[in-house]
Amino acid sequence: MEFFLDTADVDEIREIASWGILDGVTTNPSLIKKSGRDFKQVVAEIASICDGPISAEVTAMDTDGMVAQALELKSELPDNVIIKIPCVPEGLAATRILTDKGIKTNVTLIFSAAQALMAAKAGATYVSPFIGRIDDTGHDGMTLIAEIMDTWNNYDISTKVLAASIRHPTHVLQCIQLGAHTATMPAKIFRQLMKHPLTDKGIEGFMKDWAEVEAAGKA
Ligand code: E4P
Repeated sequence: MEFFLDTADVDEIREIASWGILDGVTTNPSLIKKSGRDFKQVVAEIASICDGPISAEVTAMDTDGMVAQALELKSELPDNVIIKIPCVPEGLAATRILTDKGIKTNVTLIFSAAQALMAAKAGATYVSPFIGRIDDTGHDGMTLIAEIMDTWNNYDISTKVLAASIRHPTHVLQCIQLGAHTATMPAKIFRQLMKHPLTDKGIEGFMKDWAEVEAAGKA
């Protein structure tokens, strides 16, 4: 399974990239705002830290505008930048045009299996269903991932399912069990996935005993 970071904070990206397990990064206009940085500058810096796919989102709401923005981003930014497009009819049309030009896309803001399938038919490289935002409405976001994976199992679809809007480590574990190809999550969740009190306790015990081995001159 691919693990992506969902942030535009380059310090966090450097931290998780240093673990050697970072496969890509997703950004969105809200995350760019939170970074306080210039959009293209921060995306270029992210792309220099992580060589996996880096999603940069278009903000035009018409097909021509989306395609124009995508082509500009592709011409000015490193090769590993891919184009994030909202799941609306104009976005589907833009996805088809960009796919036909060999440009990779991530169709975002997906809240139904039907939307995921439509985006896949338009040639999306990734589709991003949002789990947490469905949970926020009182429904079960994980059911959407299950429905999409069932759909994918019925057909020969090469588009990757990128589980997004992940709020806790259990979301990630459930996505793994359902066979989602990719999960994008905040740095906090990477840290939570690695943390276990018994690992910490075990290290503490081993280090204490090793200090005694050294003190006895037997190291
Ligand atoms: C995905 O690419 C989005 O950037 C992200 O996962 C949205 O998550 P949120 O619902 O926590 O804003």
